[in-house]
Amino acid sequence: MNVSIIGSGYVGLVTGMGFVKLGNRVIFVDVDEWKVRVINNAQPPIYEEGLEELMQEFKGKYYATNNYREAILNSDITFITVGTPSKPDGTIDLTYVKNAAKEIGKALKEKDNFHIVVVKSTVLPGTTEGVIRPILEKYSGKKAFQDFGLAMNPEFLREGVALKDFLNPDRIVIGVQDERTKKVLEKLYEPFNAPKLFTDIKTAEMIKYASNAFLATKISFANEIGNICKKLGIDSWKVFEGVGLDHRISPHFFRSGIGFGGSCFPKDLKALIKKAEELGEDPIILKAVLQVNERQPLKLIELLKKHVPNLKDMKVGVLGLAFKPNTDDVRETRAYIVIKKLLEEGAKVIAYDPKAMENFKRFYPDVGRQISYANSAEEVLREVDVILILTEWRDFESLDYSGKIVIDGRRVRSAEKTAKIYEGVCW
Ligand code: UDX
Repeated sequence: MNVSIIGSGYVGLVTGMGFVKLGNRVIFVDVDEWKVRVINNAQPPIYEEGLEELMQEFKGKYYATNNYREAILNSDITFITVGTPSKPDGTIDLTYVKNAAKEIGKALKEKDNFHIVVVKSTVLPGTTEGVIRPILEKYSGKKAFQDFGLAMNPEFLREGVALKDFLNPDRIVIGVQDERTKKVLEKLYEPFNAPKLFTDIKTAEMIKYASNAFLATKISFANEIGNICKKLGIDSWKVFEGVGLDHRISPHFFRSGIGFGGSCFPKDLKALIKKAEELGEDPIILKAVLQVNERQPLKLIELLKKHVPNLKDMKVGVLGLAFKPNTDDVRETRAYIVIKKLLEEGAKVIAYDPKAMENFKRFYPDVGRQISYANSAEEVLREVDVILILTEWRDFESLDYSGKIVIDGRRVRSAEKTAKIYEGVCW
């Protein structure tokens, strides 16, 4: 099939290149000229494992443009994969989605054959039908579900393993109303060996939020129990191994530590909480999940102060700035909260991350400019005696931590074994 993808960020690029690998032709659309140029040189504008190789291998089967019209006219199906960030008050910002819908609508006006628009961006229940549909109809002069198809197909990709997740999903959820659109999407997703769940559109939208909220809840729950375990001298990772053996629970995603970051969990939780409140609900569990997550990184500083009571002018090494390993993404990273607190206490911070140092400086100029950066983890170990581990990069496993005070937010086993003093947040 000929597929166009509006928004060439993590989700758009991975989804598009995944479809290319499965034999489709893909046109990427982005307003960012630089991204368009880079993609057309078969280079990924972001770091994601396996993406560059795929882009090199399938040159000629895809290209990028900033021209919506051209992309829509030359494809049968268009995915909206633009971002839906939080506004400062936590509500969802639909600016990019609305703009994409407007541009698609304008192009649809000129199209004779049946075109399908699929919303993949994470949007609150009711958005596809209540916000996106009217914009598409207004600018195209056509009727949804009749003159063009409209569906909602959430993504469940984890950064760092996004391509693998795309090609081997646990499930594919498709919110669809008209039969014609359903048939085309069934065909597009035919190569996938995964359960396919067809629902109405707003159910598909809610499945995405409920999934992320549940996973985030699992982590905050693990952290809360973990904090109690810590006080009792119990290893919470062993506890969750035991708890996870119950097939109703599952052992995955039960790692206690300094909490979750990233572009999805915090933003989606905030949006869902705001929506619930707008509906007159008081979502106390969801609010507590966020609260635990905000407190958790500060536990690391508490532990540090147990060993080094006064941080004034103390040199502290930080290993890991990315919100998780194998990504250069620093959005909502716990490292920001930890480093900010260290600076407030007067510490001097030297940090290292294999991929995320540039992004950290750019994203968080307030603290990013006040710390120094090392060229390697070894350099951090040479320079300081006190180390905080904030991201569990593989490289940090093979270091010699002997003689160091290590406070570990992510349970890096070699540190646990070799440090002079070792403290983990929840174990
Ligand atoms: C997540 C969802 O997994 C994915 O399905 C959704 O589409 C987008 O959001 P992602 O943000 O890429 O993906 O990261 P994920 O691997 O889920 O990790 C999120 C955060 O939780 C990380 O900061 C990670 O360190 C933390 N985490 C994860 C824990 O603290 N404990 C765990 O057990 C698992």
